[in-house]
Amino acid sequence: MSGNIEIIQIDITTLAVDAIVNAANNTLLGGGGVDGAIHRAAGPQLLAECATLGGCETGDAKITKGYQLPAKHVIHTVGPIWHGGNQGEPELLRSCYRRCFQLARVHGLKSIAFPAISCGVYGYPMAQGCRIALEEAKAALTANPCLERVIFTPFGAEALSLYRKMFTELVQ
Ligand code: AR6
Repeated sequence: MSGNIEIIQIDITTLAVDAIVNAANNTLLGGGGVDGAIHRAAGPQLLAECATLGGCETGDAKITKGYQLPAKHVIHTVGPIWHGGNQGEPELLRSCYRRCFQLARVHGLKSIAFPAISCGVYGYPMAQGCRIALEEAKAALTANPCLERVIFTPFGAEALSLYRKMFTELVQ
């Protein structure tokens, strides 16, 4: 099973996978960080489709096409803003990963790539966020035989080493 999880330092917008996940906001109308990078790379049609979706609740996810991205789809999810961890943040972040994996299953996707949802502007501690990400990836790979590759794209040396450490602890 551990062969199905990859941790690579790469711009997520360059990946030719079935879906890349966007760390979006409740409007789904774009923003900074990975959201801005995905919209820039996908082109204006992505924003046009997002505008038809009626936004997205925190902890939920919605799927669109990938347009000019090498990825076939984008799964937009809205992570929680970190307020110290006692306002449901872990459950909401876990829900983001679960909803993304549910959509992957419903759409028969074989490969999916995730940034560190909530761990940028939204301030979620990377070590705690990556534990949830890897736990849910492990569960999804066990539950969904169609899923072949789950890729994580931590940005920066510190994020990369946290993901690798957590992978060794939880998966290998
Ligand atoms: N590829 C992979 N990871 C990236 C990329 C990229 N091209 N660009 C940034 N990251 P963030 P959030 C990493 O802030 O915390 C937006 O404005 C980044 O280093 O993008 O969920 C939305 O519209 C960090 O580790 O998302 C929301 O308003 C991780 O992606 C808000 O930010 C997530 O950082 C969402 O905040």
